[in-house]
Amino acid sequence: MAGASKKRDRWDSSSEEENDAKESKEPQLAKKKDTKKDSLPTHNPLLSGCRSVYDTYERLARVSEGTYGIVYRAKDLATQEIVALKQIKFDKEMIKEGFPLSALREVSVLLAMSHENVVNVREMVVGDALDQVFMVMEFMEFDLKEGLSRFRDALAQSELKSILLQIVAGMQHMHSKWLLHRDMKTSNILVHRSGRVCLCDFGLARSYQEPQLQQLTQLVVTLWYRSPELLFGETRYGPAVDMWSIGCIFGELICKDSIMQGQGELDQIDKIFEMVGVPTEENWPLFKKLPNAGLLRWKPRKREDLLIFQKFPVNKPVSSTQAFLDVNGFDLLRKLLTLNPKQRITADDAMQHPYFKEGVKPKTPRFFCE
Ligand SMILES: Nc1ncnc2c1ncn2[C@@H]1O[C@H](COP(=O)(O)OP(=O)(O)O)[C@@H](O)[C@H]1O
Ligand SMILES: [Mg+2]
Repeated sequence: MAGASKKRDRWDSSSEEENDAKESKEPQLAKKKDTKKDSLPTHNPLLSGCRSVYDTYERLARVSEGTYGIVYRAKDLATQEIVALKQIKFDKEMIKEGFPLSALREVSVLLAMSHENVVNVREMVVGDALDQVFMVMEFMEFDLKEGLSRFRDALAQSELKSILLQIVAGMQHMHSKWLLHRDMKTSNILVHRSGRVCLCDFGLARSYQEPQLQQLTQLVVTLWYRSPELLFGETRYGPAVDMWSIGCIFGELICKDSIMQGQGELDQIDKIFEMVGVPTEENWPLFKKLPNAGLLRWKPRKREDLLIFQKFPVNKPVSSTQAFLDVNGFDLLRKLLTLNPKQRITADDAMQHPYFKEGVKPKTPRFFCE
């Protein structure tokens, strides 16, 4: 049983050394599979608890390590299927306090959703130690951030549409379940071989109500994707925060780089005003009620100076690596990047936008078909 104990050691350590060793394990795998296959029960976690990671998955390689977890590529020992396992990170303090809140959120949110554009969680598995809890997900080829950096040419209009439509569809599902994502960005969107795109990383997600009476923390969303209401201290925000982030992602799909890269909160506000203009009595009447509204002064900006018109000229390619937008595409971008959250387009309305209905049809992007 040396093989089994080696496998166990691997799950018990967080070393990256296994990367080279991944395919050399096949014979052991086959042996294990033969003995397990016939007896594999239909697993009901409510009756028998979570299965053991050692008996069920072989760790192949580490994919990424982030704030809340380490993601591994692994193989299902029974079916040989490749899956992703996200090991929930516990620090010493957390163990004292119990199961980490972010992980609990992520798991409960994911269990509440079922949609082709939201990453699918199959089960939770555990190791021997208290801090070994893993979320088993379908394996996705890469995240969108990496996808964009791999792809040197501009995305075609049809490809751009397909990716954005899928992101909006996943978000529409999430919002219809009264859930906010609160950390939408290209590294939290996964790309499957088939061209399917899924939202992932629900560590900051939470439920919301309408009207939003509860106060929520405004310390959410990675700075470059953070909406103006959050930056001005709004605590009663809603799904519009995710739609702003989707606007930033749309721009990034076009330019292949984040479109507003602030160096801090004030600079981020500056970048937003440069891009889409400043709040006025007409475009955002309730702006002055925001906690930080009185802290800043700014000059009005002329419409023709706004960066959005320069960066995204309608029907005019800017360079061979940058995609371009037709009239409908530009209209949707503006509606997503609308300062006033009450006027910002919702996921429901975005799904019905003419950008997705007229002109070229959405098509699976080339870099997924290779
Ligand atoms: N199911 C998956 N398949 C393949 N890669 C994944 C999967 N889930 C996450 N990843 C990769 O791991 C990274 C981190 O995962 P994520 O869920 O965003 O956690 P974190 O809280 O660490 O950001 C993602 O950006 C992506 O590159
Ligand atoms: Mg993430």
